[in-house]
Amino acid sequence: MGAEKPHAARPARKNPSQSSAPASSVRDWPFDIRRPAGFAPPMVIEQAPLEDELGDVLEKALRLAGLSADALAARASVSKEKIQDALDYRYDDLAGAELDRLSAALGLASAGLREIASGRYPLPIVSGLPFCLHALRSPHGLGTANAYLITDCRGGEGILFDTGPDPARLRRMWPAGVARLAAVFLTHSETEHTGALSEVRRLFSPASVFAPAGSGLPATAGLVDGSRMECAGYSIETLATPGHAEAHNAYLVRAVRAPHAAPLLVCGDLLFAGSVGGGYFCVRRQREQVTRILRDLPANTILAPGHGPLTTIGHERAHNPFATT
Ligand SMILES: [Fe+2]
Repeated sequence: MGAEKPHAARPARKNPSQSSAPASSVRDWPFDIRRPAGFAPPMVIEQAPLEDELGDVLEKALRLAGLSADALAARASVSKEKIQDALDYRYDDLAGAELDRLSAALGLASAGLREIASGRYPLPIVSGLPFCLHALRSPHGLGTANAYLITDCRGGEGILFDTGPDPARLRRMWPAGVARLAAVFLTHSETEHTGALSEVRRLFSPASVFAPAGSGLPATAGLVDGSRMECAGYSIETLATPGHAEAHNAYLVRAVRAPHAAPLLVCGDLLFAGSVGGGYFCVRRQREQVTRILRDLPANTILAPGHGPLTTIGHERAHNPFATT
């Protein structure tokens, strides 16, 4: 069970400015929360690049479908060379009709695959959360690994979801005024998501650190599917989502004082804007959990993934190439 994928070996992207990503380094990115005067609740204008482009999507879809590149070439009537080039992030020669045949052969949504291939996968403007969400992004390969901090927008106390990989970077990103942590929730055990946990414990001494049951993370309380709790004014429901890892949770968060406002799903490496996490533990269960989450959660649920930008359930239902049921 490895990290999300071996970015280091990836050739240069075809679309380095995928979507609305800026050309500047991730280190220059501001926090994503913007609160224009007189506008409440907060809205988010995303600047993070997508985690995956066409080569990644095709690679994951091949694994999920249990197909080799040769078998895909035969099924889709697309040359093996073009498919291999696409897996290597060279896909200028793929025509729209070929993309559609690849989608059909892989069980993908063709409109979403075309949007990914064109480098114009849209992102929603995220709004409606009844609390502040701080996306704490760390460089990871060519993308980001994300931790998330929620607060009541007045600072003071927060709840942290994952920690990111790097204690020093987390300290630099930490919002001024947030001096206490009511709890930490971890989606899965990979270092890019938990590497700063010791520093978080040292700085904040959170009363509880929760993790998926069976994760093996030391000094954590295990949470199973359906676990519900209230913590610091938030209700938090655990959704066990194995597939990327055997022990992998997503957390559905609502403000107790605003139960009908948009919920937040911190979903780790289950689902990304425009893609899904790799099914490194079990591709079948990964697909089942993606289908479950897209089917069962309200459209206005804001998705906070372990990599890449924020999105929503409704947006991914409409655009994600893997949203086919
Ligand atoms: Fe990851």
